Amino acid sequence: MGHISHDTETSLCEDSRLHLPRGGPAARHSVGERVSGKKVLRPGCWKMLTVAMCVALLGCLRAQELGGHVSVILLGATGDLARKYLWQGLFQLYLDEAGQAYSFSFHGAALTSTKQGQEFIAKVMESLSCPEDVVPGRCAELKGQFQQLSGYHRLKTGEDYAALSTDIEARVQRQGVREAGRIFYFSVPPFAYADIARNINGSCRPDPGAWLRVVLEKPFGHDHLSAQQLAAELGSFFREEEMYRVDHYLGKQAVAQILPFRDQNRKALDGLWNRHHVERVEIIMKETVDAEGRTGFYEEYGVIRDVLQNHLTEVLTLVAMELPHNTSSPESMLQHKLRTFQALRGLQKGSAVLGQYQAYSEQVRREQQKPDTFHSRTPTFAGILVHIDNLRWEGVPFILMSGKALDERVGYVRILFRNQAYCAQNDKRWVAEQSQCLPRQIIFYIGHGELGGPAVLVSRNLFRPSLPPESWKELEGRPGLHLFGRPLSDYYAYGPVREQDAYSVLISRIFHGRKDSFITTENLLASWAFWTPLLDSLAHEVPRLYPGGAENGPLLDFEFRGAQLHFSQRQPEQLVPGPGPAPLPSDFQVLRATYRDSPLISAWPEELIAKLADDIEAAAVRAVRRVGTFHLALSGGSSPVALFQQLASGHFGFPWAHTHLWLVDERCVPLWDPESNFQGLQAHLLQHIRVPYYNVHPMPVHLHQRLCAAEDRGAQMYAGEISALVANSSFDLVLLGMGMDGHTASLFPHSPTGLDGEPLVVLTESPSGPQQRMSLSLPLINRARKVAVLVMGRVKREITMLVSRVGHEPKKWPISGVLPSSGQLVWYMDYEAFLG
Ligand code: BG6
Repeated sequence: MGHISHDTETSLCEDSRLHLPRGGPAARHSVGERVSGKKVLRPGCWKMLTVAMCVALLGCLRAQELGGHVSVILLGATGDLARKYLWQGLFQLYLDEAGQAYSFSFHGAALTSTKQGQEFIAKVMESLSCPEDVVPGRCAELKGQFQQLSGYHRLKTGEDYAALSTDIEARVQRQGVREAGRIFYFSVPPFAYADIARNINGSCRPDPGAWLRVVLEKPFGHDHLSAQQLAAELGSFFREEEMYRVDHYLGKQAVAQILPFRDQNRKALDGLWNRHHVERVEIIMKETVDAEGRTGFYEEYGVIRDVLQNHLTEVLTLVAMELPHNTSSPESMLQHKLRTFQALRGLQKGSAVLGQYQAYSEQVRREQQKPDTFHSRTPTFAGILVHIDNLRWEGVPFILMSGKALDERVGYVRILFRNQAYCAQNDKRWVAEQSQCLPRQIIFYIGHGELGGPAVLVSRNLFRPSLPPESWKELEGRPGLHLFGRPLSDYYAYGPVREQDAYSVLISRIFHGRKDSFITTENLLASWAFWTPLLDSLAHEVPRLYPGGAENGPLLDFEFRGAQLHFSQRQPEQLVPGPGPAPLPSDFQVLRATYRDSPLISAWPEELIAKLADDIEAAAVRAVRRVGTFHLALSGGSSPVALFQQLASGHFGFPWAHTHLWLVDERCVPLWDPESNFQGLQAHLLQHIRVPYYNVHPMPVHLHQRLCAAEDRGAQMYAGEISALVANSSFDLVLLGMGMDGHTASLFPHSPTGLDGEPLVVLTESPSGPQQRMSLSLPLINRARKVAVLVMGRVKREITMLVSRVGHEPKKWPISGVLPSSGQLVWYMDYEAFLG
């Protein structure tokens, strides 16, 4: 150990002559990662032997030409990951590749002293296990060779790296082969990346002609910004094609099978893999272990950063992406993945439920020497609802869930299909293959759980899937075993011919340069860009505590409605009786009063929005009954968002087909800009309802490739459109808000336009950005049959008080000029805005 013998290298070349290669070096490249067994010649056929010898000799000669020497340097060779998985993965690589085109050396490296490092590696070598499909004698022989080829280096300084490089060059020369490449596997914490990268780049790069592959392990940053910084730093030492960022879930056999499965079953899946047929997708990773012993890391990351941002997001993209024509082309894969990221709808606080197992804070206090008063807010459980706004997936909920200290260890992706069948026979006569009334699902079973290993399951009433027979076989029946509510016999069920650990799969792919199984910089940043806003918004959330294990009961069950997710059970709160009588249900009723001599409706936000939505629907139904159409002008900003959502999700009787939607005001930005009021309307209302497109009237702020230029006469155009379509230019209902300075629509205090005079629509300036606006004028607003002013939140308390006292002074407080000449004005204020 510590010295890699030259003799072993020679014997490897001889070794390759003893075994029949599978179809020459080129074929070996493609199958090498799957099959390790070396087929010994069947005796008795001299002709075949001669041919085999020729092929083998040719293979050996071509190995000199095409192959060469590969050095694998495992940094952090004495660490946990290396001990548990990486050495075994390297051994598997050697089992698969020995005697073929390449020769190898394996260099364990760490900061530990040479003596300790060598002892460690000697122990690791002892613990290497032989896969079942390699005959024991053969395996022992290869294990001996692997030991001989493995050594330890203490790598600390630039000189150490330079010495390693010299060592590798000398070895290659001795062998008389070319150097094929070097793999540096970083199994070290990210703070060590920069130094190591600098040293490799400065003193240990192979000569031109040989490749360099550096393998990086997560965490790749903590949020979008830190990921960008780390990526930029690494990018200054390595080229993109040299970096292999590992997400070990991509090496799990069931995960690695998602795209090939979609590809090989294109015909059957083409019509099914979309929003018309998929009811929901569940991407789940449950663990029984907790974070004890890792709280230092976990406290900083939590479950979303640890598992959802990487493993589950990667799986999500594999399920959701458009299938590239060539599923192993890294470029098409990346482009399709990035497009999926672009279509992900932004997550809100309400898209998540968080939990923390009860013992966690105590573990952190103990391990991180925190005071007794310390309580962590780090989530150890998260359920997230993701929507994808594209034609394939619109409206299909993707549920991502992971947690520590749960009742079982299992990982799976479950695609549940809608069921629109009615079966005329009694359910006792339903037959799995035929009955369309039984659940229809496809499951990529990642591992553990009741099945105990990876599998692909397809309900028999869907189709018989095709899986590559050399690597997947049908599972044997397991009477009594139920999965996802059905007996195993209801599924076409396949398991891998040879179960392989994720790291072995990935190490083989690194060796074969299969970049499609790794995370590129763009992919990484797209994922962080998706998760970071949610992480920021959840930073101060208190997770629900759960006892852990089976005792969790239904405490962590969650439900979704629209884009919102919430725990099914209310938080078991302990109510501390306060002074005074307990609140009565009547305290929560809608309060009616007057404000500025007009009707005022006041309530808690939820009731208030419900009431306003009901009133708008009632006005719409009345208008349509009366004249056949309903003209509704809507404001932008944050207050109406809840109203839009309410209208979109709970008002099925709304006569949308006869409703015209107008904008009260608009920012002078393109309509697709997130700042645009139209964009808010689109996101929260339009995309969820069915309004004929010619009934939607965005403000023309963007004409002739410029924004709100007076010469383009956008305001006049909008006024013309209103006059043409709305009788007497009198909207049926105008929804307004009230700003903290008393502005309404985009009519600000002291605005030179819009407060009086002829124009129906005007350009105005906001004192805060974006400056330029387009707005309905007060005279036009005051022609409406009904004006509703929605005011919400404690921040509005002061202006509410003030405006309640002022007279008709639109120049100072434009809202005070809202007084429909023959229509009705109604104020809708939540308690916080009205009562403070
Ligand atoms: C790791 C996480 O990436 O994945 C761990 O950091 C988690 O917290 C582990 O336990 C789960 O991986 P596996 O392969 O056991 O499902």
